[in-house]
Formats: sequence, structure tokens, C-alpha cells
Amino acid sequence: MMRSHYCGQVTEALTGQTVQVCGWVQRRRDHGGVIFIDLRDREGLLQIVFDPDNAETFAAAERLRSEYVVQITGLVRARPEGTVNANLPTGRIEVLGRSVEVLNKSETPPFQLDDDSVGEETRLKYRYIDLRRPLMQKNLRLRHDVIRRIRNKMDELGFIDVETPILTRATPEGARDYLVPSRTHEGKFFALPQSPQLFKQLLMMGGLDRYYQIARCFRDEDLRADRQPEFTQLDVETSFLSMEEIMALIETMFVDLFQSVMNVDLGKLPHMSYADAMGRFGSDKPDLRNPLELVEIKDLVADSEFKVFAAPAADPKSRVVVMRVPGGGKIPRSQIDDYTKMVGQYGARGLAWIKVNEWTAKGRDGLQSPIVKNLSDAALAGIISRSGAVDGDLLFFGADKYKIVCDAMGALRIKVGLDHGFTAQGWRALWVVDWPMFDEDEGRWVALHHPFTAPKVFDVADIEANPGTVLSQGYDLVLNGVEVGGGSVRIHRADVQSAVFRLLGISDEEAREKFGFLLDALKFGAPPHGGIALGLDRLVMLMTGAQSIREVIAFPKTQTAHCPLTNAPGTVDGKQLRELSIRSTVSPAAAPRAVSVTEA
Ligand code: AMO
Ligand code: AMP
Repeated sequence: MMRSHYCGQVTEALTGQTVQVCGWVQRRRDHGGVIFIDLRDREGLLQIVFDPDNAETFAAAERLRSEYVVQITGLVRARPEGTVNANLPTGRIEVLGRSVEVLNKSETPPFQLDDDSVGEETRLKYRYIDLRRPLMQKNLRLRHDVIRRIRNKMDELGFIDVETPILTRATPEGARDYLVPSRTHEGKFFALPQSPQLFKQLLMMGGLDRYYQIARCFRDEDLRADRQPEFTQLDVETSFLSMEEIMALIETMFVDLFQSVMNVDLGKLPHMSYADAMGRFGSDKPDLRNPLELVEIKDLVADSEFKVFAAPAADPKSRVVVMRVPGGGKIPRSQIDDYTKMVGQYGARGLAWIKVNEWTAKGRDGLQSPIVKNLSDAALAGIISRSGAVDGDLLFFGADKYKIVCDAMGALRIKVGLDHGFTAQGWRALWVVDWPMFDEDEGRWVALHHPFTAPKVFDVADIEANPGTVLSQGYDLVLNGVEVGGGSVRIHRADVQSAVFRLLGISDEEAREKFGFLLDALKFGAPPHGGIALGLDRLVMLMTGAQSIREVIAFPKTQTAHCPLTNAPGTVDGKQLRELSIRSTVSPAAAPRAVSVTEA
């Protein structure tokens, strides 16, 4: 037997007993002829004491260093009065070391585990050491707990776990593909799945009725704190359920998960239309913990002399909004200037503002602002009344193309909410629904969800006539301003699917080449179906309070999609490339071990 107990589980109940523990030396402290070791394993820290009475053991303890792996036998005893550590479960006791065996030494570790200032690159390079930190252990165990409970619940709800291929064809979720060259089919490539989307639809056509999978997805896109090139989804698909029924089913699972893992009651999730979310919050994933809102004032400034407002007010593709910041009169000019710079990053050409100092007593003379002189009494009164402003408030304005105003003012809303304490603690989840099917991008239609999302009404003529206004049966699940999931009812009719492809500029030929198998499957008795995928890493990130999803993934990639631990991606030798009929265009100097043109 190597050990009798985990370090973190040696408590008062074992006082007077002999225990045998194994773990890593977190710290060694020498105190006036007595040596203290903090021994660590996955369950926690345990204090071991060595006194000089036992000369041989004492000498062995003196040789211990950080991260040595040791096995220690000793007697559990109460800590002396005044040395109790109430913060540790093992803080009332210590183990008097009788024997110590070094199971393995460690070189001086590149960082101390309790040092929070270590750079991420170093942490990732030595991830196996980083993972020993209690916080990382806690994060990974919470992730395990989430997945375990999801599996139990999905099983209870009648969902069947089915694996889908990793080597497959391109799956359009809007990112670049990771490609895998085929050796046996010269010049051809597999793509890694951006999601199991088409396979889960085919499983419905295969009669599985309810499918789920904890699925790995691969997307070559620009990385951010909440994006990884490979990430994990809870992927779900069901047959013969309406949009409302699918959402209710997922909500049951989600609310249940929060209750059991976090002891948080999310309540009944509100439904908000996409138009409302963009209109009031400038975002399709509004953080409802933040009460600040955008209010449309186009009609109030349309006749204004002030071109900055009047021009967008006259343009149907633009918007003019005001955002009231209660008590914002005390925000200094320097911070308004910082906010102006910030909205500039989203394309805003400025950030007009009004400080409502003494409107009640002095009317327009009680307003402080660079733009008041340009606005009529009627416009000002309308703005004050519609925004609900009172003396002491600050009003911010956005006037530009619809998307610019949403992006800029939406970001400002979040920033001001955090800076000035408007954003509450806690949890606010909602469904965003009534998405448009298509969005216009440089004169072309693009799918707002993906091209398999069903319209509200299965009417080919309507879709073709009104691509800009038809709504889809898509839905997003949003938690605290983060998109944790997205899904939809799917198109289950070949004619509708073909019409959508055509609208997206995918020719019949291309559709056949890329998605022929799906179009065929739709012709052989495809049931109505729909589903969702939740971003598991994002969800666990929110639950742990981590700032980046890398904190909840054992071996993540950096922001540049690189693994400092294994140094992937790496070069391959010329022989491998030749077998794959591949020739690199990177010069040998730039990539010393890549195959050169002549070699290939
Ligand atoms: P979607 O593309 O919205 O939908 O993805 C679903 C959820 O996955 C998470 N997510 C990511 N997490 C980490 N890193 C990434 N790069 C990343 N990209 C997405 C998000 C997102 O809400 N097949 C559809 C689902 C469906 O229609 O059923 C899909 O993949 O939390
Ligand atoms: P100007 O007339 O350009 O000096 O702008 C007057 C005020 O309006 C300044 O405070 C600008 O920051 C602001 N402003 C300019 N363009 C916009 C815009 N598109 N949206 C909101 N405010 C703007």
C-alpha cells in the first residue's frame, strides 16, 4: 500500500492514528531545529513536522526541495494552541513525520505554484506543473462535474450519445477549416469538423430521434479569450419537436445544471427578439445584469440642423440613439475622452454627450455639452423625456450606420456598466429569438445562423421575395453577456434547402458537390428536426469565474494557436510530405525542416 489517505483528507478525526501519505513538497520551512513540510496532493495541503529526535528522518527531511515527490508515514496530532489554520480543512492537525521516502526528485521548478505572477506562456510550457495548482485542479474537476451531470440528465431525457467523424468534409459554421491531406487519395483533403452539424441531422434522418454528444469542434479563426481553435460542445439534436419544445427541453437541462453545480436558480429564462436585443442593448448577446439601455431618437432629431444626427436620422440603414447614465454627471471629461477613443475602435466618428446639470431649474441653460447649441428646444425636451434623464445624469449619443452604432454603443454600455458599478453580480440568462434568416454583407446575403436553419414559414416564394425580412427558427442561449449556445429548427425539405443555398450564392452545382448527401437525405423521409450546441468551455469558464477559456482546458493553445508544451504545430519531413503529394511554398530558410521545392 503506497498511502492510507489523501493529504487533504487527514483531519481531526484521525488524531492519534498513524497515516501514510504521498504527494509533492509545496514548501519546506526550517524553524528553530524543527522542519515543516507542506505536502500537497489533489485533495489539498497537509503540514508535516520533523523534529531532530529522529536523526535519520530529520536528515532526510532536510534534503527535501520544492516539488519532490515523497511518501511520508507519521502520527496525526493536534496543532499546538495558536498555530491552527482555520482556512485549511487540515488546519487543526499536523503529522509528526516518522519516515520519509523520496519517490522522485525534482529540478528547481520554473515557477513556484503559489506565485500568481507567472506568464501564461511559461505556465503552458510547463502545464504539467501548472496543473498541480489547486485552482487548475478545481477548474478541471468542476468541468468534470458539469459533463458528468450533463450526461446523466441527457440519458434521463432519452438522448443517445453517438460519435461522429473527425475526418470529414467541410462543415460550414463560418470559420476556416483545418485540413488533413489524404495519402490514399492524392491531392484530396479531409476537413476537421467545425461542428457535427450535418451528421447530427443525418442521425435524425436515421431515426435516432434524440442525439447528444460531448463533441470536439475545430475552427481556424481569430482567437480571443473565449475562443479556442479546438473546443468542446454539448451537441444536441431532436426530431418531431417544435422550436418551443426544443428550447424548453434544453432549458430544463441548463437550469438543472446550474442548480446542481452552482446552487443557483436561474428561474424561467426570458425570450427576447433579436431586434429588441440589438435595439435596446446594441448586442445579440445582451448582459441583462447591466440596466443601461439604448433609446432610439431618430424622430426627435430628423429635422435638426445638426448634420451629425440629422443625416443618419434620415437614412433607413442608420440609427440615432441616446444612452442615459444615471448620476453620470460626475464622470470627468478625461474619462469621456477615453470612452470617445474606445467607441472609435468600433468605427464611431465621435461620442456626443450632454450633462444634465440643472434641467429642472434652468432648461437648456442647465445642460452642459458640445452639441446643445445645435439642437432645438423641442428636440432637447424630447430627448430628456424619452431617456428619462434627471438632474445629475449624463447622456451619451451614437449616430451612424446601424451596425456601427450597435457595436460602439453596445461596447460603451458594457464598459460604463462595469466602470461605474451598474452591472450587478450574479447570473442572468435569456434566449434570443426571432433572428433574421439573412444578413446583407457587401451586397451578398449571408446566413445569420447557418444555412440549415429553418425559416419561420416554409415558403420558398416568401424567402426569395423577402430575404431581408424573413425570420428564422434560430435561438441563442445567452448567459451574462456571453453566447453559451446556439441552435435552430432545421430545414427538412429539399426544395427549401435548395432555395436557401441559391440565395446564399451557392450554385446548384456547388450545393450538389458539397452537400449532395444532405440534399439526397432530405428526399428520403427526413423528419422535422432541430437542436442546439452549447459551448462547454465557455460555460465552465463562466461557472469558475475564469477570465479565459484556457483556464478550464487542460492543454489549450495560445492566442496564436500554438502549443508551448509540445511546440505544435511542427514541421514534417520531406518524405511525409511527398507521400501526401504536398509541396510547401515556405522557403527552407523560413522553415528549416519543411520540404524544399526541389526535394519535392
Ligand atoms: P455555433 O457555431 O453557434 O453553433 O457554436 C455553438 C457554441 O459553441 C461555442 N463556440 C466556441 N467556443 C470556444 N471556441 C470557439 N472557437 C467557439 N466557437 C463556438 C459558443 C457557441 O454558442 N452547429 C451549430 C449548433 C446548432 O445549430 O445546433 C453550431 O456549432 O458557445
Ligand atoms: P462635431 O460637430 O464633429 O464637432 O461633433 C460634435 C460632437 O458630436 C462631438 O462631441 C463628437 O464627439 C460628436 N459626434 C461626432 N460624430 C458623431 C457620431 N457619429 N455619433 C455620435 N456622436 C458624434
